[in-house]
Amino acid sequence: MATGALLPAGDAGPRGAGERRQTTAKGEPARPEAVLLIGLQGSGKSSFYRERFFATHVRINLDMLRTRRRETLLIDACLPGGTPFVIDNTNPTIAARARYLAPARAAGFRCTGYYFDLPLALCLARNAARPPGERIPPVGLYGMRKRLQPPTLAEGFDALYRVTVGDDGAPLVAAWATEA
Ligand SMILES: Nc1ncnc2c1ncn2[C@@H]1O[C@H](COP(=O)(O)OP(=O)(O)OP(=O)(O)O)[C@@H](O)[C@H]1O
Ligand SMILES: [Mg+2]
Repeated sequence: MATGALLPAGDAGPRGAGERRQTTAKGEPARPEAVLLIGLQGSGKSSFYRERFFATHVRINLDMLRTRRRETLLIDACLPGGTPFVIDNTNPTIAARARYLAPARAAGFRCTGYYFDLPLALCLARNAARPPGERIPPVGLYGMRKRLQPPTLAEGFDALYRVTVGDDGAPLVAAWATEA
C-alpha cells in the first residue's frame, strides 16, 4: 500500500520533499546510502538515476559491467569507504535484492528502494521506442512481470518509495509502506 502525497520528482531539489535523508549537524549523510532500483525493463530506472543520483552515487549496472565478478569488484570498492551507490538493475526478486542488501547493511549503509510500479503497456511502449540496439524482445518484459516481487521493508530496506508516472509523464515518487 502506498502512503503519503505524490511528489513530483525533484520537487525539493535533487530529492522529492518526502524522500527523507538522515543528516549530521554539518548536513552530511549520517550513513552512506545504497539505493536499489526495482522495475521492469523500460520502466525508467536509468533515466531516474541520471536525474536523481548522477552527481552523488556510483552507478552499478550489470548490463554494462557484463559479469558478476566485475559487479562485485565495484561494490567492494564502494563498501569499505562508504561511497554511496545505486544498483541500476531490474532487481525483480527478493533473492536478487538480497545479494546487495546483505553486504550493504553489514557495512552500515542505509538501504533505500525505489519500486517502479508502471503499467506493463507503458514499459512495452517505451521499450519499443528505444533505438533498435537497446530494445529487448517484449516476451522478456512479460516474463519479468511474472517474476516481479514487490519489495518489503522486511527484506532489510530502511525506506521504500514507489515511482509512478504523473500526468506530464514525469516520475512521481511516494512513500511506499509495505509489510512482510
Ligand atoms: N519519464 C519518462 N517519460 C518518457 N520517456 C521516458 C521516461 N523515463 C524514461 N523514458 C524513456 O523510456 C526508455 C526506457 O527508460 P530507461 O532506459 O530509463 O529504462 P530502464 O528501466 O533503465 O530500462 P532497462 O531495465 O531496460 O535498463 C528510454 O528510451 C527513456 O528515454
Ligand atoms: Mg536501465
